[in-house]
Amino acid sequence: EKGALDMGERPATLGAIERAIHACARCPIGELHNTAVMGEGPQSVAEGFSGLMIVGEQPGDHEDQQGRPFVGPAGQLLDVHLAEAGIDRSAAYVTNAVKHFKYVPKVVRGSKRRLHQNPSAKEIDVCRWWVESERMIVQPRLVLAMGASAARGMLGKTVSITKARGSPIPLDGIDGVGGSELWVTAHPSYLLRLDGAGREEQERLFRIDLAAVAARLAELA
Ligand code: URA
Repeated sequence: EKGALDMGERPATLGAIERAIHACARCPIGELHNTAVMGEGPQSVAEGFSGLMIVGEQPGDHEDQQGRPFVGPAGQLLDVHLAEAGIDRSAAYVTNAVKHFKYVPKVVRGSKRRLHQNPSAKEIDVCRWWVESERMIVQPRLVLAMGASAARGMLGKTVSITKARGSPIPLDGIDGVGGSELWVTAHPSYLLRLDGAGREEQERLFRIDLAAVAARLAELA
C-alpha cells in the first residue's frame, strides 16, 4: 500500500491503538516522549456516530497537555465553523494524522515555549498506520481531512488543498472493510495565521467546504 509501512497485525480496537501509540517511537516525534493524543468520539451508530471522521495534523501544545484533539485555539475555531455548518462535533470521530506534538523548545521573552513544527512526509507516513487503523475500526462514510498533512495521512501522497477541495476522493476499504469518501479542506490553524481580506476569503472557502460535507452527510443518512 502506498505511503504505509507494514507494522504487523492491525490493532482490533481503539483501546489497543491508544495503548500502542503511547509506546510508539517509530519516528523521531515519538522519541520526544510527550503525550500521544488519541482520537475521540463515538465509533458506532449505536453510540451516536454520524459517520463523519474529522482528521487534523497533529496535537498542538494544548492538546498535548490535555491529551485530547482540537481543544486549543484551532479547535475553538473549528467548533465555531462546525456549529455554523450544522455539524455535530460530538457525533463525529475527531483525530489527527500524527499522534504526537512535534515542536522545538524555544525561550521567548524569558519564558519557555514549544514551537510547532510541521511533520515530515515520512513521519506522516509512519503514523498513517495508526490513523488508517482508526478508520478501519470506526468505518466512517465521510472523512474530512483538514490541511495537507491530514490529506497525506489519509491518501499516502501529497495533494494540493486548492485542487482537492470541493470534490470527494474515494478511499479504499482496508483489509476488505468498507471504504470512505475523503473531503479535503484547509486547516483551521492556517486560517488563524491569516488576517484581513486573506482571512475572510479563507474562512469563506472553509465554510463552503463544511457546508458541502454537511449536505453530503445528510444525503447519506
Ligand atoms: N491542530 C491539529 O491539527 N490537531 C489538533 O488536535 C489541534 C490542533
